[in-house]
This record gives sequence, C-alpha cells and structure tokens, in this order.
Amino acid sequence: MHTPDWMARGQPHIWLPYAQMKTATPPLPVVRSHGSRLELADGRSLIDGVASWWTACHGYNHPHIAQAVRAQLDAMPHVMFGGLTHEPALNLARRLAGMLGPGLDRVFYTDSGSVAVEVAMKMALQFWLNQGERGRSRFLAFRGGYHGDTFGTMAVCDPDEGMHSLYRGMLAEHDIVDLPRTEGELAALEAHLEIHGARLAGILVEPLVQGAGGMLLHDPEVLRRLRRLADRHGLLLIFDEIFTGFGRTGTLFAFEQAGIRPDIVTLSKALTGGTLPLAATVASSRVFEAFWSDDPSHALMHGPTFMGNALACAAANASLDLFESEPRLAQAQAISTALAAGLEPCRELPWVRDVRVLGAIGVVELDGITDREALKRRLVDAGVWVRPFGNVVYLTPALTIAEDELASLMRAVVDVLRQRRP
Ligand SMILES: Cc1ncc(COP(=O)(O)O)c(C=O)c1O
Repeated sequence: MHTPDWMARGQPHIWLPYAQMKTATPPLPVVRSHGSRLELADGRSLIDGVASWWTACHGYNHPHIAQAVRAQLDAMPHVMFGGLTHEPALNLARRLAGMLGPGLDRVFYTDSGSVAVEVAMKMALQFWLNQGERGRSRFLAFRGGYHGDTFGTMAVCDPDEGMHSLYRGMLAEHDIVDLPRTEGELAALEAHLEIHGARLAGILVEPLVQGAGGMLLHDPEVLRRLRRLADRHGLLLIFDEIFTGFGRTGTLFAFEQAGIRPDIVTLSKALTGGTLPLAATVASSRVFEAFWSDDPSHALMHGPTFMGNALACAAANASLDLFESEPRLAQAQAISTALAAGLEPCRELPWVRDVRVLGAIGVVELDGITDREALKRRLVDAGVWVRPFGNVVYLTPALTIAEDELASLMRAVVDVLRQRRP
C-alpha cells in the first residue's frame, strides 16, 4: 500500500481509537469521499458499508449540506450558547420537536453521543432531586447495551461485552439486566423492579437494536413492556436513538414502531448527515417541568463549550431538509429488502450462526472471528469498507447507496465469508 508523506510523518504522533497501537494494522489513508465511496491515497476506491459509524445517511459530500455549512461559515461559525443564541440552533430545536411529536419538545445540545447520554442521565437524576426524592440514584440498563465511552456511560454498557470490563469497580453501579424478550425474562424484571424499583431514576435502552454491543435485535413488544413497567414504577424511560435515529431502522425513529413514547431521547450520529459533531438530548414536558422553578439550584448545570455550534446546527437543518425532500425512508425499506436477499446465502456457511436484518442494518453473526484484521484486509481487497467487531460482520450503508453499489457490497461480503472460516 502506498503511504503518503503526511501519513508517514504524522502516524508516530497519533493515538487511534479501540486499537492496540503496537500491533494494529495502520489505518487506511482516505483522501476523498463522495456518495458511498471512499477514495484512498493509492487511488483505490472502496464502497463504504459502514457510513462512517452510521453517520453519513445521505452519503458523503451531499451538496445541500455542503452549501448550508459554507453559508453558515461565512455568516457565523460559532458563538457561545451561554447567554447568546442563534437561528440555526433554535430552528433545529423546533424542527426536532416537530419530528419527535407531542411531548418530546425540549432540546439540549451537546457534541457527542456519549455526552448526550450523560446529559439524559443527569436530567433523570435531577428530575427526582428537584422533587425532593433523594434515593433514586441508579439506572436500569441492559446486557448487550452500549451507550458510550465516558465514565457515566461506561457504567450503563454491558459490563462484559461493552469494552469497559477493565474499569470494573471504578464505575458507578447500576442494575444491568436482561432485556425482557421472553415471558420468563419479563417476570424476572418485574420481580427485580418490585424489590429495587424505588432506588431507580430511569430505564435506559437502545430501541429495537443494541448496536455496538453486538447488533442484537429485539421486538417492539419489548419496548412496550418497558414503557408499562416504567409507568408502573414511576420511572423515566430513556431511549438512546443515537444509532437508530433518522431512518436507520426503517422509520424516522425506532420508537415509532412500538407505538409508545419515551420521556427522554438521545440523538447524534446521522443528525448532521455525518458532517459535523452534534448531539441532542430531547426531554418531555414532564421532565422539563421538574426543572422549571424559582430555585436556581433546580437548573440543569451542564453547558459544553461548543454546545449548539452554529455550523453543526446548519448542517443538521440541511440534513432534515433532505429527510423532507428526498425519499429516505423508502430508500431504507429498499435497502432492507436487498440486504435480506443479498446476505441470505451466508446462512448456509457452517461458520455463520445467524443472518438478521432490520431497516438498513444487515448483520451476519459468525460463531467466531479468529483474525479480524485479516478479515478486514480481505474485504478491502474485495473493494469494500466493512469493519467487523466481536463476532459480527454488519452493513449499515448510506441510505442513498446506489442499487449496484449495494449489490457489489453484499457480493463482496458473501464471497469473502464463503472463501474460508474467518
Ligand atoms: C447507541 C449509542 N449510544 C451512544 C453512543 C456514543 O456516541 P459517541 O461515540 O458519539 O460518543 C453510540 C456510539 O456508537 C451508540 O451507538
């Protein structure tokens, strides 16, 4: 592989994510992106099956977003959000409230998914404190879950699969239990809540698919059960839609498929169409009202420096324009149908445990991956960018991916997996 000069000189100074720096394969130098394509420094072009960690829902370099960001850059890239405000942030808040529907109508901006979840947790804890209840300091979260890498969020990830088991004993303690998929698991959860419900502030879950914890799907009925249990015990229900939000599961938000509403929802990833970092924690009026007071100590004490960044809000507004003007949900449905058919041949391979599809998410679960780096290399050699983790190879392409590109992407995955046990 050709290594450009800037990489040879910069690489000794960079610390990469989720990587043993001594042994990790060097990252691929990307010089340009467009549509569903990544162009490498050596001239190769890869079809992107990941959409940059599920962010680039409109594909790369959509001209409408580019134009909106350029115009905002000329007018005002950023001003502090403490004591100042601006049109892109308030327009975006109003539009998000409109899209999320009645009740979910107070938007708090941050700049990453993890921090959006931290803010949701702070909101839930203080919701109770502001009402004089001091004993509700824990959350109910689920095995298989992933909510981020910060200290607050590590504590609500799956304690074994969530990449953070090293920190055991150093994190806040929460109740991490099985999702109530079966009647037995539901009964166990009901019993747990009868005993421990009064010490909980809320229930935190990724609706319909637990992403980074293993691409594990669950039925909308699970979410209805959680809503009923939250109501019975007076708990706040928090949906982390950082992965699922903006069409990924086939509806704009995953919770729509369950016909119920959370009390708080977190959004990021596809919010700006994958262009700029931005996240939002959106609270219901019930949550917000617990902070509405003459007592200054009842205020939410949080305020990231780049909160409500005007460039990011302009990008997000442009991204929402595209959800209104282009058929993203129909595209997600078409991708879903194609993934189900295109990945089906993997099911016959003796080392494949499961093939599952939800919206524009296609997952091949293997019984193990011995050499993940080698598998990734073989996929790159086949012309696609796919990043296997744990035991899964998954596809979450841009919702705008062309039919022939999606077909090539799936063919590459099937061929590479078929060659030999990975
Ligand atoms: C469901 C969910 N929550 C939270 C996060 C954390 O977001 P970030 O990486 O932007 O901090 C992620 C990231 O993958 C996620 O999938």
